[in-house]
Amino acid sequence: MGTPLSASTGAPHAAILGVGAYRPVRVVPNADVVDAIDSSDEWIQQRSGIKTRRWAGPEESVQMMSVEASRIALERAGLDAGQIDCVVVATVSHLLQTPAVATAIAHELGTDAAAFDISAACSGFCHGISMASDFVRAGSAQHVLVIGVERLTDILDLTDRGTAFIFADGAGAAVVGPSDTPGIGPVVWGSDGEQFDLIRQREDWRDVVGSPERPGSGVMPHLVMQGNPVFRWASFAMAKIGQQAIDRAGITLDDLDVFVPHQANMRIIDAMARSMKLPSHVRIARDVADQGNTSAASVPLALERMIAEGDARSGDTALLIAFGAGLSYAAQVVTVP
Ligand code: COA
Repeated sequence: MGTPLSASTGAPHAAILGVGAYRPVRVVPNADVVDAIDSSDEWIQQRSGIKTRRWAGPEESVQMMSVEASRIALERAGLDAGQIDCVVVATVSHLLQTPAVATAIAHELGTDAAAFDISAACSGFCHGISMASDFVRAGSAQHVLVIGVERLTDILDLTDRGTAFIFADGAGAAVVGPSDTPGIGPVVWGSDGEQFDLIRQREDWRDVVGSPERPGSGVMPHLVMQGNPVFRWASFAMAKIGQQAIDRAGITLDDLDVFVPHQANMRIIDAMARSMKLPSHVRIARDVADQGNTSAASVPLALERMIAEGDARSGDTALLIAFGAGLSYAAQVVTVP
């Protein structure tokens, strides 16, 4: 005689119900970055498409930016924080190893929902959307708040020519909830741990702290990247993943209205669009030009901007794809809220 484990039943489908963003106030032009890395505005624009980026000030913490973006997403979804029963935060730049920043964000928003962080670097938001969709459909949660947030300037070496001009700060949030029609397609995700070292925190905490026999560096561990192999991997391997997400959603490229790739670098965005042979009617997110690469925040920030500027309209079909350290990646087709 077994004890019944009552099956939870969820919604038939899940969808994104609202998206919000927080962009730091300070706009940093290339001119403010070039001296420390012996570079030029022209070089940076030509190699990355970045003209300006947003860097957070002292008050613009991971928690503060997340709460601001979430409040907007909740309002647009027509929900109160109390209706959220799970908060998923994708970030690699919350500087406490524990607890998760998600619990503090949930508390400040006014919910005692389940709350935890995920570490999947630039692809964290797309991982979170997939998890949220599954939670809603399985009945583990009715409404899930997914946040992508970074304050990468805390771990940026401003004298590193390979990273200083690329990375930036910000937060994006999306509310995922029940829907009568499918609004989030099957995820295509994976990892390539053989390339674990291509983008990474340079020192682990033991190297920083050290020991009496082996003194540590005493400096913040910095983010380092081997730009060339990352560029090649992202430009070619990721186009195939985007196509797989389209296939798994049961649509064709012609059905696509909007393409929201991770805002790593304009050349990668263009190379992916070319490799995928995106039809000319597909509108492409190009937020990186004045936002920089905000890792986990980049896809929701770019999607929010397209919605705000009318480039993505409610009911449009959008391909989201994100990739980065790990190497890890995730892609899905979604309906624009
Ligand atoms: N400013 C000026 N010159 C620079 C420079 C900088 N910041 N960084 C490198 N250079 C120089 C090098 O010294 C080299 O000069 P040389 O030809 O005289 O030897 C030349 O530019 C090429 O260097 P390389 O390291 O091969 O640059 P690159 O063409 O690979 O461009 C990136 C560098 C970072 C722009 C490019 O690799 C890239 O976009 N990678 C992907 C990064 C990314 O988006 N990551 C996020 C994924 S989540």
